[in-house]
Amino acid sequence: MSGCKPGGTKILYSCEGRVITGNRIGRTMGIPTVNIPLDDKDELPQFGVYVANVYVPQMDLMLKGVANLGVKPTIENASGSNPVCVEVNLLDFTGDLYGQDIKVDLLEFVRREMKFDNLEALKEQINKDIKYAKDFFDKTKHQMGHYE
Ligand SMILES: Cc1cc2nc3c(=O)[nH]c(=O)nc-3n(C[C@H](O)[C@H](O)[C@H](O)COP(=O)(O)O)c2cc1C
Repeated sequence: MSGCKPGGTKILYSCEGRVITGNRIGRTMGIPTVNIPLDDKDELPQFGVYVANVYVPQMDLMLKGVANLGVKPTIENASGSNPVCVEVNLLDFTGDLYGQDIKVDLLEFVRREMKFDNLEALKEQINKDIKYAKDFFDKTKHQMGHYE
């Protein structure tokens, strides 16, 4: 799915789903995220990190974030790889969205998803991704528009 937002920013991909509990490692890294599972049978864009908007209809909220779409190869899991999900660190929101139905719009590709040697290296990279996304929103003075 692709489209355009008011103000002209292109949407590379949109997905919707209910926020689930992740492995809770993000919280221990000081980088809380909201996770939604994706159907890997759908045609998905390249696994990687994207600047994103998150819309929470029940709260009438439009939030800014930076998302990873993929299988988190750095995080070993007893059954092998993780299911495909989109996981967003919100730049301007610290509340709880667990159980909410949300819509995630991917706006700009930042980098490919990678397997890091340790969580410290992953955390360092995610902090750079967050900086990238903040600069993106500053630069574009991104309009938080309404969805039809
Ligand atoms: C901006 C961003 C970038 C990420 N990049 C990667 C990555 O390149 N490789 C990876 O294995 N996981 C990546 N992740 C996922 C993290 O591994 C994940 O957020 C962390 O393990 C916490 O997961 P949890 O919420 O399930 O505990 C990224 C997450 C975010 C928010």
